[in-house]
Amino acid sequence: MLVVAFNGSPRKDGNTATLLRVALSELESQGIETELVHLKGPLSGCIACFKCHEKLDGKCALDKDIINECIQKMAKADGIILGSPTYFSDLTPELKALIDRSGFVGKANGDMFQTQGGRGGGSRSQGGSDSCL
Ligand SMILES: Cc1cc2nc3c(=O)[nH]c(=O)nc-3n(C[C@H](O)[C@H](O)[C@H](O)COP(=O)(O)O)c2cc1C
Repeated sequence: MLVVAFNGSPRKDGNTATLLRVALSELESQGIETELVHLKGPLSGCIACFKCHEKLDGKCALDKDIINECIQKMAKADGIILGSPTYFSDLTPELKALIDRSGFVGKANGDMFQTQGGRGGGSRSQGGSDSCL
């Protein structure tokens, strides 16, 4: 079994990465294989070109960043964890780009990620309410 976690923080070794590593190490202690992927930007959001709905090749037409690599990792994984710092009560643009682009590709290609459970994780500095996954 493989669980892949995505770190939506621009800080590779910040608080979100620390929290994700804690979660992954717990899974590893139970014999589950894990991978931590840092969402290296800049990442464009979905441009609604609908090419993924025409080509049906399981890929995003924007092929100059790491999103297609992430989509492949998500497709192979049994579980997916999404982590983001809170930025003005929301996700970072990096994680939103992954969700929108992989989500649209997934929908176009027969709900590619239907069996993997997604969990949102937020790291933040103050109390209050967040929008989260
Ligand atoms: C642009 C920006 C916006 C932020 N907005 C919030 C916020 O609305 N609420 C909050 O509690 N923390 C906010 N923070 C603080 C981060 O969520 C917090 O420091 C987080 O732990 C950073 O995670 P990281 O180390 O993985 O980057 C913000 C930080 C930045 C850079």
